[in-house]
Amino acid sequence: MSSDWSLKNPYASKIVENYVLNGEGSNKETRHIAFDLGDSGLTYKVGDALGVVPENPPHIVDELIALQGWDPEHIVTTQASGRTLREALKKDVEIHMATSTFVADLLNRVKASGLRMSLQMTERTRNGPAPAVLANGRGKQDDRSRVEAINATPETVSDYLWTRDYVDILREFNVRYTPEEFLSLAGKVKPRLYSISSSPDAHPGLVELTVGIVRFEYHGRQRGGLCTQYLADEIGTSGTPVGVFMSPTKSFVLPDNGDVDIIMVGPGTGIAPFRAFMEQRVFDKAKGRNWLFFGDQSEKTEYYYKEQIEDWLDSGDLYKFTTAWSRDQEEKIYVQQRLKEHGAEVWAWFEKGAYFYICGDKSRMAKDVHRALIEIAMEHGGLSEADATHFVEQTMMKDEKRYLRDVY
Ligand SMILES: Cc1cc2nc3c(=O)[nH]c(=O)nc-3n(C[C@H](O)[C@H](O)[C@H](O)COP(=O)(O)OP(=O)(O)OC[C@H]3O[C@@H](n4cnc5c(N)ncnc54)[C@H](O)[C@@H]3O)c2cc1C
Ligand SMILES: NC(=O)c1ccc[n+]([C@@H]2O[C@H](COP(=O)([O-])OP(=O)(O)OC[C@H]3O[C@@H](n4cnc5c(N)ncnc54)[C@H](OP(=O)(O)O)[C@@H]3O)[C@@H](O)[C@H]2O)c1
Repeated sequence: MSSDWSLKNPYASKIVENYVLNGEGSNKETRHIAFDLGDSGLTYKVGDALGVVPENPPHIVDELIALQGWDPEHIVTTQASGRTLREALKKDVEIHMATSTFVADLLNRVKASGLRMSLQMTERTRNGPAPAVLANGRGKQDDRSRVEAINATPETVSDYLWTRDYVDILREFNVRYTPEEFLSLAGKVKPRLYSISSSPDAHPGLVELTVGIVRFEYHGRQRGGLCTQYLADEIGTSGTPVGVFMSPTKSFVLPDNGDVDIIMVGPGTGIAPFRAFMEQRVFDKAKGRNWLFFGDQSEKTEYYYKEQIEDWLDSGDLYKFTTAWSRDQEEKIYVQQRLKEHGAEVWAWFEKGAYFYICGDKSRMAKDVHRALIEIAMEHGGLSEADATHFVEQTMMKDEKRYLRDVY
């Protein structure tokens, strides 16, 4: 059944499972989260992603309102009309991180008015971080220099923003905005995508995710990622509706022919679509062999979906499971190293037409795995570097579409 739920019109789903996958003593918080699709008519295939619409933490909304002295019941218009300011700050804009547009505007206001920032330290700012301007009692000239230092280049603005949200900034710079001014400068709320970690055939009526919760602390305040904190801290399994929609993939799909072998590389939360692939291949009774490369910090605390993986190994559904526990020994071990150690076999699978899938960290892991594939083609395929690169980037990726990536 098709449905009209979309980014603009998300389905209000309920979370029915929400638990931490890590063992005790882990440095990480990775959660398994299941959403009930109810009577939405939403459908998906393995490889698709789920869009989740987050909301801001109520305590940050309240801090911001108090800091600016706004009336929370004031009616405003955003992408939604006729909301109270409190509702709009919760749902319509992102307030856990300031935008560069906001900072540019603030710095212009400070410069234009010749204001001395944070000159009157009020009761409410006293408990916050010590504003640098106040800390050394500098006057107008120094305030301006500091504004110029922040505003000097896109990099200095971005450095400033990295550790501060609006509460931090408006504690530091005593500038007042009308609610309308603030809402027009803050970034509109954006949905987050998550690779689906379930097969609809194995879990009818549900869609499941594997989510790494982002938490950090700056200026003595516990903060974190908007959507992951929302899912972990605000929702739990409270029954509160969460807006979701499907984001289907055209390319990150299983081979049509179930006899084809597949190699899956998914360290960390990168395991998500491969749990879904495995469930689907088992359900379909696909005969092709499945080889999963997985890794994370420690076997004791990060062996996600251990029982299910061991069952697949016992049944033979998972032909091979190769792990890289990066911190279980002195020297880091990563999945690309394991791929290279098994290079001859990986190459033999490629020669027989195996598909190669990768999911997880785009900035480092995916690049290193890509390089490892080229090196395997050189070492075991006897190709020159140029030919090996062509094989991986042209033949596998573009011509035969059997090197497929879901990286973020
Ligand atoms: C196609 C796709 C699939 C994805 N699949 C998954 C998945 O299966 N599982 C998963 O967990 N994620 C997945 N993601 C990532 C996910 O969409 C979110 O980006 C992620 O959950 C963070 O969202 P957030 O709202 O919690 O964080 P955000 O509010 O977006 O904030 C994260 C940002 O915080 C900032 N930050 C500032 N200081 C720090 C600090 N000290 N430490 C860390 N960050 C800091 C960084 O700019 C960082 O990018 C996927 C992304 C895409 C595009
Ligand atoms: N910016 C954020 O908000 C934030 C926060 C957390 C995660 N993430 C991102 O979310 C994605 C998944 O995070 P995750 O927690 O699931 O897993 P992850 O951070 O990608 O870690 C999974 C495993 O990969 C290892 N790893 C680190 N660098 C690697 C490299 N160059 N090549 C291969 N493996 C490498 C890690 O080892 P070590 O850690 O021991 O080095 C760990 O064992 C990544 O994109 C990550 O960057 C983003």
